[in-house]
Amino acid sequence: MRSIQITSNEGLAGLTFVEREPAAQLTPQQVRVKVRAVSLNQRDVMIATGKYPRAVKDGVVPTSDFSGEILEVGEGVSEWQPGDRVMSTFYQNWQDGTCSPEKVLPNYGSDVDGMLQEEVVLDASCLARVPGNLDFIHACTLPCAGVTAWNALFGGRQLDPGSTVLLLGTGGVSIMALQLAKAAGMRVLITSSSDEKLARARELGAHGTINYRSTPEWQQEVKRLTGGRGADHVLEVGGEQTVTRSVESLAMGGSVAIIGGVSGFTGQFDPMLLFFGAKQMRGILVGSKAMFRQLCALIETADIQPIVDRVFEFEQVVDAFDYLSSGTHFGKVVIQVAK
Ligand SMILES: NC(=O)c1ccc[n+]([C@@H]2O[C@H](COP(=O)([O-])OP(=O)(O)OC[C@H]3O[C@@H](n4cnc5c(N)ncnc54)[C@H](OP(=O)(O)O)[C@@H]3O)[C@@H](O)[C@H]2O)c1
Repeated sequence: MRSIQITSNEGLAGLTFVEREPAAQLTPQQVRVKVRAVSLNQRDVMIATGKYPRAVKDGVVPTSDFSGEILEVGEGVSEWQPGDRVMSTFYQNWQDGTCSPEKVLPNYGSDVDGMLQEEVVLDASCLARVPGNLDFIHACTLPCAGVTAWNALFGGRQLDPGSTVLLLGTGGVSIMALQLAKAAGMRVLITSSSDEKLARARELGAHGTINYRSTPEWQQEVKRLTGGRGADHVLEVGGEQTVTRSVESLAMGGSVAIIGGVSGFTGQFDPMLLFFGAKQMRGILVGSKAMFRQLCALIETADIQPIVDRVFEFEQVVDAFDYLSSGTHFGKVVIQVAK
């Protein structure tokens, strides 16, 4: 079977097609799945270009998120049948409850082989069922960006309908969060470097939009758009260039979900901003399989179709990684491994 391996991390040219033997026989708890579609995350680009802050297995198969169809189940598997449509769970061992160091390791596409291959063999417990309203292309966007957005919105303190949520940029996590927050009756403000992308966000239901390039002090605009009060909650994906402004954008008692660092991870943060505003910060590590089930229930009930910006063929893997690195996307970038 065809598979992608990272043969050098000196750039995206290290993403190489190789022929590998599929696993011959399943153990009783394993499932063999035909990979149909894979979605890309920033983490995948960092790994492929040698910029990931943790060790990576030599010759690893990249990526973590896929959707596909079960071909065969081990003799001890009762939950799944051939033909079932499934997705990976980002963490193999975080089924439920709070996370622990054991539950969030190992990681696909870095510690162990990931999903850019025609077939994968996984433990039956590491799969989630595709929501009935989604095809494979849209379903593969859920394991990381979808669960992260769900956890950041609903996994912490309760946010009531009518709450104002601030989203940063128009990448995979933020656009999924826009769709989920709208479905839950929240008011969404969103920033972007592009007026065209902001117009698309308004079409998806964003109530207020701010261009963070033309309005560098965008926290003041958040206050203006909320009648001086501030947002109730922020999904912080920006990191060093945005975290202080994100906290300043909050109403008293508001909260921020710390998710990523597209502008970098260093810099300084003044903790007084938190206690004088009685504000809260919560770090997010994607989420559990139980959260994934709740996400799927919302996706199905509200008939949410995740926004896929572009679909690449399996042969165009390097172009797909390059496109995500360029930052021109809106929502998710997908590779169709098999039709
Ligand atoms: N903690 C977790 O579990 C977890 C899970 C998923 C992702 N993440 C992290 O979260 C971050 C976002 O992930 P993603 O998948 O949504 O990435 P993405 O699809 O690449 O989106 C990133 C977007 O951020 C915006 N952006 C870039 N520089 C910015 C800046 N200086 N200020 C504000 N916005 C900026 C851009 O939007 P515009 O083009 O609209 O300007 C860009 O498209 C990444 O750092 C990722 O590694 C963490």
